[in-house]
Amino acid sequence: MYRTNTCGELTIANIGQHVKLCGWVQRSRDLGGMTFVDLRDQYGITQLSFNMETNAELCEKARKLGREYVIQIEGEVIERSNKNTKIPTGEIEIKVETINILNAAKTPPFTIEDQSDGGDELRMQYRYLDLRRNPVKNNFLLRHYLSTEVRNYLNGEGFVDVETPCLVKSTPEGARDFVVPSRVNPGEWFALPQSPQVFKQLLMVAGFDKYYQIVRCFRDEDLRADRQPEFTQIDCEMSFVEQDDVLNAFEGLMKHLFKKVKNIDIKSVERMTYADAMKYYGCDKPDIRFEMKFVELNDVAKDRNFGVFDDAELVVGICAKGCAEYTRKQLDELTDFVKRPQIGASGLVYVKYNADSTVKSSVDKFFDEDALKKIGKKFGAEKGDLILIMAGKEEKAQKALCELRLEMGNRLNLRNSNDYALLWVVDFPLLEWDEDTQRFYAKHHPFTSPKPEDINLMETNPGAVRANAYDLVINGVEVGGGSIRIYDRNLQKQMFRTLGFTDEDAQHQFGFLMDAFEYGAPPHGGIAFGLDRLCSLFGGVETIRDFIAFPKNNSARDVMLDAPSGISEAQMKELGLMYKGS
Ligand code: AMO
Repeated sequence: MYRTNTCGELTIANIGQHVKLCGWVQRSRDLGGMTFVDLRDQYGITQLSFNMETNAELCEKARKLGREYVIQIEGEVIERSNKNTKIPTGEIEIKVETINILNAAKTPPFTIEDQSDGGDELRMQYRYLDLRRNPVKNNFLLRHYLSTEVRNYLNGEGFVDVETPCLVKSTPEGARDFVVPSRVNPGEWFALPQSPQVFKQLLMVAGFDKYYQIVRCFRDEDLRADRQPEFTQIDCEMSFVEQDDVLNAFEGLMKHLFKKVKNIDIKSVERMTYADAMKYYGCDKPDIRFEMKFVELNDVAKDRNFGVFDDAELVVGICAKGCAEYTRKQLDELTDFVKRPQIGASGLVYVKYNADSTVKSSVDKFFDEDALKKIGKKFGAEKGDLILIMAGKEEKAQKALCELRLEMGNRLNLRNSNDYALLWVVDFPLLEWDEDTQRFYAKHHPFTSPKPEDINLMETNPGAVRANAYDLVINGVEVGGGSIRIYDRNLQKQMFRTLGFTDEDAQHQFGFLMDAFEYGAPPHGGIAFGLDRLCSLFGGVETIRDFIAFPKNNSARDVMLDAPSGISEAQMKELGLMYKGS
């Protein structure tokens, strides 16, 4: 037996016991007469003590232990004279009788401490060492707990876990596919699934009532803090449901997770239409931890000879409470912020409602005090408030003001990572027009059902059709998305036509699904949550990489494996592929 106990469990109650422990040497301290070694495993740290007077040979051996050596010790649990109240094992230490070095270790390339001296790239290269550090390890304990509670809840609600394939068919919609060549079928390719969407729908046709799967998905997209090329979904589907049934079921899941993992009671999840989200927050995933809603100003801002406003499709602003005292420098910073290439605004207008009742703006030339007060009234602005206004093409002005609103939220500490605001955004448009390719794309995916009352617009005004589609947004992060599906062959066919497919193309690409709809497909709908994003929200961290054990870096590489990499000529030949240089 390697060990009787772990390094995290011995306390004052174990004093006098003879124990065996195994672990890694965190650090050793040589105090002359005494040497202390901190022994670490997944569960915690236990102090080992060695006395030069009573056992000089053993003490010498202990002094030679390097950081991260893997050792086994035997000894007696004794009370510490110098107690550490910060850790559970801090009241005891082990008076060691034997040391057995199980494996020596090279000095690690960075310190294995909570605050490491290793840079990002180095820690990724030696991810197995990074994972030994407490803050990193704890992220995975959180992830494990979260997915366990997801399973507990969904199992309890009667959802059945079914696995779906990883080698699937490449389809033209959605993000780019990762593809895999087939050796047995030279010249043909599988794709890795972007999500199990069609399979879960086919499971409903197969008669499963409620399905779920915690499943890996693959998308060849550009990386961002909240995006990885492979990520994990909590993928769910239900039969005989309407939108409200799905929203209620998964509100239940969210309440369960917040209670279990964070001990937070979520009272309710707000609902907002996509149209309102865009109008009041300028984006489809508003952070509603704070108000600062958009106010449209076209009626009071135009016809004052100020070209920027007069020429704009939309003049829109926000009111930052208590910010009238912002200095020139602070206002310049905000202007620079919106002028950054990522946002690309040409400028920012401000109006200060000063404490002494005067009003001062950057457009005083065009707006007298009365006109500025009229603007203030639209916001319900009070003395001490600052109004920030953007103007331009509708979409661009909304997007820029959305970024500015979030920036103001940060500056005013209104975005505390320990506060959680959950929101369903509903009634998304079914389609999205793409200028480059001059065609409509499905906003969610092509299997999403239009709202029945809007179906008649599909041929005459496709852009106005609303979908039975919804997103769950937490603190401004899109955590999940889903929809009620089309289950009628003809409607599905019509949808593909609207997306520019010929009937032959649609049959070729998605015939298996449309055929299935002819064999008794039930009404169904579902949702998928991003598990990595949920973890990062629960962990209060912005990047999902911290919650993926072996993630890709910003260039979509695994720096530990050094992948992707070339393959041998023999492999290429076997797969029927051309070899580089051949
Ligand atoms: P969707 O594409 O909205 O829906 O994805 C669902 C959720 O998955 C997460 N997500 C990601 N997380 C990390 N990295 C990525 N690259 C990434 N892409 C998506 C997000 C998102 O909300 N089949 C549909 C679901 C359905 O209709 O039921 C789908 O995949 O949190």
